[in-house]
Amino acid sequence: MNIDFTYQNPTTIYFGKNAIDNLSSELNNYGDTIMLAYGKGAIKKIGLYDQVISILEKNGKNIVELSGIMANPTYEKVMEGAKLVRENNVDLILAIGGGSVIDCAKAISVSAYCEGDAWTRYWIQYEPVDNKIVPVASILTLAGTGSEMNGGSVITNEEVKLKNGRVFPANVNPVFSILNPEYTFSLPTYQMVSGIFDMMSHLMEAYFSGEDDVTSDYLIEGLLRSIIHSAKIAVGNPTDYEARSNLMWSSTLAMNPIMGLSKTQDWEVHMIEHQLGAYTDCAHGMGLAAVSLPYYRFIYKYGLDKFVRFATQVWNVDTTGKSKDEVALEGIDAMEQFIKECGIVTNIKELGATEEMLPLIANSTVILGGYKVLTADEILAILKVAYTA
Ligand code: NZQ
Ligand code: ZN
Repeated sequence: MNIDFTYQNPTTIYFGKNAIDNLSSELNNYGDTIMLAYGKGAIKKIGLYDQVISILEKNGKNIVELSGIMANPTYEKVMEGAKLVRENNVDLILAIGGGSVIDCAKAISVSAYCEGDAWTRYWIQYEPVDNKIVPVASILTLAGTGSEMNGGSVITNEEVKLKNGRVFPANVNPVFSILNPEYTFSLPTYQMVSGIFDMMSHLMEAYFSGEDDVTSDYLIEGLLRSIIHSAKIAVGNPTDYEARSNLMWSSTLAMNPIMGLSKTQDWEVHMIEHQLGAYTDCAHGMGLAAVSLPYYRFIYKYGLDKFVRFATQVWNVDTTGKSKDEVALEGIDAMEQFIKECGIVTNIKELGATEEMLPLIANSTVILGGYKVLTADEILAILKVAYTA
């Protein structure tokens, strides 16, 4: 445990089939005007929209709606929501959807009363938030990002072709989140497995850095095993409640600062994916998977012991008679096999990338890195592998 830390998480989680029953009592804690923020219609198809409207009406709330929040939410949409919040004096933003809707709600929350340009202040200069923060709550319909219990908010600024994320302090976390795994049953397999790889990637980003003996690494290995196990069940039977529950809770834990506490971390896969997403608008988890395979094959030798540990502890690779390199690579091969079994995309051309985009993506990617800090040329080489995979 080499790095000091402070950990705070104020989000109340209501988990399970009857979690929505807690909405009414929670609403008593906030004022009269609620902004309902949601995407392009999935919540209407599953009846959740009608159910929530009826609960809000029973509680005598004024309802303001922000609909049409797109996957990979744009700064323009954030500004539309911020205006609505100011005009209606919104007391609580209730986000219903996946990570995009919840991230957008948090961005609206910090931007509505921001003086000056919120994009520059909060997503470029990473300034602390010094203005009023409108409380956000969430009802989750897609497991993957962990946005329901963290301060993360990833926003795409289409004008400058940048997808930037940041983790705000805990006072931007949702104040409460309602997690009913049944709400995820209607997800197309494509979105379900994209979310599954996203949660795995959050754990790997924290894992692949550092040489010290840290509790977080043991937690990550356990959580990865749980996700892999439940993913296989959920892919075969998407309405298996236990598997979907395990995935939903694993995802909340995975992208929660708790899994990376006291560790140095990597996050380069996410940085590359964010720019891939800025250019292609691809599903986040799919982009991560396509980048991860060539990235990890490129950097494994710089963190060999950790990749050996990953192979043995997460993928049960047998080490008998094998070199460390062989074991490490077998671990990555096992992950590729899993990715393919789930139907996760491994080729960025399939995700909308063109050859001309590759240098633009590489040159605009933020460079972080764990075992190896890449150059823009190395990122380009990784993208080229992902393009021809
Ligand atoms: O628009 P609707 O109709 O709601 O459809 C959505 C959307 O098309 C659909 N969907 C959601 N729940 C559904 C459903 N369809 C049927 N049934 C349901 N129950 O799924 C599509 C994708 O939704 P989206 O919210 O975009 O997916 P996800 O949860 O993967 O969020 C991705 C965004 O989160 C960011 C990503 O970069 C990306 O912008 N991230 C946020 C993080 C955070 N807050 O900490 C961390 C992550 O690393 C990630 O970067
Ligand atoms: Zn992610």
